[in-house]
Amino acid sequence: MLQGKKIILGITGSIAAYKSAFLTRLLVREGAEVKIILTPYGKEFITPVTLATLSKNTVITDFFNHDDGSWNSHVDLGIWADALLIAPATANTMAKMANGIADNLLLTTYFSARCPVIIVPAMDLDMFRHPATLKNMELLRSYGNFIIEPTTGELASGLEGKGRMEEPEKIVEWLKDHFKKKSRFSGKRVLITAGPTHEKIDPVRFIGNYSSGKMGYAIAAAFANEGASVELVSGPVQISLNNPSVNIHKVTSAEEMNRSASALFPAMDIVVFAAAVADYKPEKQSLSKIRRTGNAMVINLVPNEDIAGKLGRQRLENQLLVGFALESENGETNAFKKLTEKNLDMIVLNNMNVPGAGFNVDTNKIIVIGKDNNQKEFELKSKDDVAKDIINEIFNLMINRSYA
Ligand code: PMT
Repeated sequence: MLQGKKIILGITGSIAAYKSAFLTRLLVREGAEVKIILTPYGKEFITPVTLATLSKNTVITDFFNHDDGSWNSHVDLGIWADALLIAPATANTMAKMANGIADNLLLTTYFSARCPVIIVPAMDLDMFRHPATLKNMELLRSYGNFIIEPTTGELASGLEGKGRMEEPEKIVEWLKDHFKKKSRFSGKRVLITAGPTHEKIDPVRFIGNYSSGKMGYAIAAAFANEGASVELVSGPVQISLNNPSVNIHKVTSAEEMNRSASALFPAMDIVVFAAAVADYKPEKQSLSKIRRTGNAMVINLVPNEDIAGKLGRQRLENQLLVGFALESENGETNAFKKLTEKNLDMIVLNNMNVPGAGFNVDTNKIIVIGKDNNQKEFELKSKDDVAKDIINEIFNLMINRSYA
């Protein structure tokens, strides 16, 4: 699985850097081409000579080669790589990656990388569980990076706890698994709608809902990480997703979402309607701020286009369409009705009465319902893991129908 894969191994200043020598050896043995970037503090823990010998490549430590004046292009390195693996990653390097600080070659390469980035932290237990480190890891995940969590055991400080860098064999297994999965949706074009829509009342007010976009963005990242090329039509959300395989189309209203999704639709293989689209919009939008009069006020609402319903009627033979249903009662019955009415292949039901499921939380609990009303219930999980379950179900559908 790693034969011919181009991997940049970034090594930062941690005692766990000694494990990177073994990691390099394993990667090379698996057939990967390995280029190593050592940070200035990384050099204090392991020598470039050891790593150059094991990787069979010159180890890069600086922006410039002081002997001949040539420079190491972080942009070229970032484009060259199939994966950027940072092992060990210190709290300091993760903080800089999370906050846009680019003061060494590894960091500039990270900011230019177009490939998956895998971070393998190593540090003392108190540093690892510090809220700043945890926050930075959350930010790094939200940018689409992967984190291989440290293990628990004896640390260099002599203390016991979570902070040990994962073992090189396990990291290599993770990479092999990643590249194997990555190709599952390669060549597939996927459209996802996500987030809420805002329906303008006047220049300062709108009708909206509590959708955060987290579910739709997690599905977009999951597809992209498995080789799909993703078009994400997103309502107004506070999430950033920086994945070269995800093209984000920002919209505000249901009308804009409809226009954007409809234009993209004919070229798509798979469509997931995860957005919470407003069913109604004000009939008229006031151009100036509506003033308080003290009297009751009536806003006439007219229906928005049902985007999933309309595109379901226009679907092409090979397309696979997946909807969501957010229900407060009779979940399974209502969801199946929506699947049928909108001409979908599968619907994902989330029940807004289940704690930790639905809108604006980091977790979800779903039931996947198929065309013949077959149902599969999943445990409460993080939305990232729910997204993986959903795309597994979609993959099974693809296989069953020989769409693959
Ligand atoms: O964004 P999060 O905070 O992470 O929350 C995730 C979520 C709860 C928003 C998401 O998982 C979800 O359930 N999205 C659909 C919510 C919804 O609007 O459900 P619905 O039952 O009203 O719509 C049914 C289906 O038709 C959905 O696929 C919806 O995208 C689609 N639809 C609805 C109305 C409309 N005008 N156009 C549509 O395409």
